[in-house]
Amino acid sequence: MRGLVFTEFLEMVEDTFDYDMVDTLIDNTQPKSGGAYTAVGSYDYQELENMVVELSAQSGMAVGDLLQAFGKHLAGVFTQNFAQFFVEAGSALALFREIDRHIHVEVKKLYPDAELPDFKYEDATADTPFKLHYRSERNLYLLAYGLITACFEYYSEPHKVDVKHWQEGSVHCATFEIRPEVSSQVRH
Ligand code: HEM
Repeated sequence: MRGLVFTEFLEMVEDTFDYDMVDTLIDNTQPKSGGAYTAVGSYDYQELENMVVELSAQSGMAVGDLLQAFGKHLAGVFTQNFAQFFVEAGSALALFREIDRHIHVEVKKLYPDAELPDFKYEDATADTPFKLHYRSERNLYLLAYGLITACFEYYSEPHKVDVKHWQEGSVHCATFEIRPEVSSQVRH
């Protein structure tokens, strides 16, 4: 996993808690890498998972809430560092359609060792909502959830997101059902 993910995670921990918490996470999880992460390095995903679980134990916050908060934090980084993808897409759903066929493809070209999830989508029909399907060897669908809700905030497009999660062997799968949120309901 890219070092950027680790440095941003620890930055979020420092901003939300303090530097002592960063130290505690590294001391208590004893990462094989030693814990001196750099954005351009590459590290074992398990080290991140261990730190998220430890942060949950230290803070009393649920792992899922921490991952969603981290997703929001990462979205803030991506909108700054990779602004052109957000400008080109112009809307959250257009951005989601581009993750697999464009955005993560470019990420993989820049960083061949990047470990990325698969995203397939189904456009809404008269009877079904827009669906985004996540598959990954890593259990980070709640990170995706945080990224998705942050994208709707970025574009000021209120949406309701429902998620289902299951596992197929070692693969973590999730489907996000996405519906526009209407501020005043028209009744017939
Ligand atoms: C400009 C937009 C984006 C950029 C530049 C980007 C880039 C990246 C990078 C660098 C990683 C780390 C790969 C690694 O550590 O090896 C990553 C992982 C990930 N990305 Fe994206 N991404 C973008 C948009 C999105 C969006 C909109 C979503 C969700 C809807 C998303 C979902 C994820 C998830 C869940 C991971 C974690 C890896 C996993 O679950 O297997 N990304 N992305």
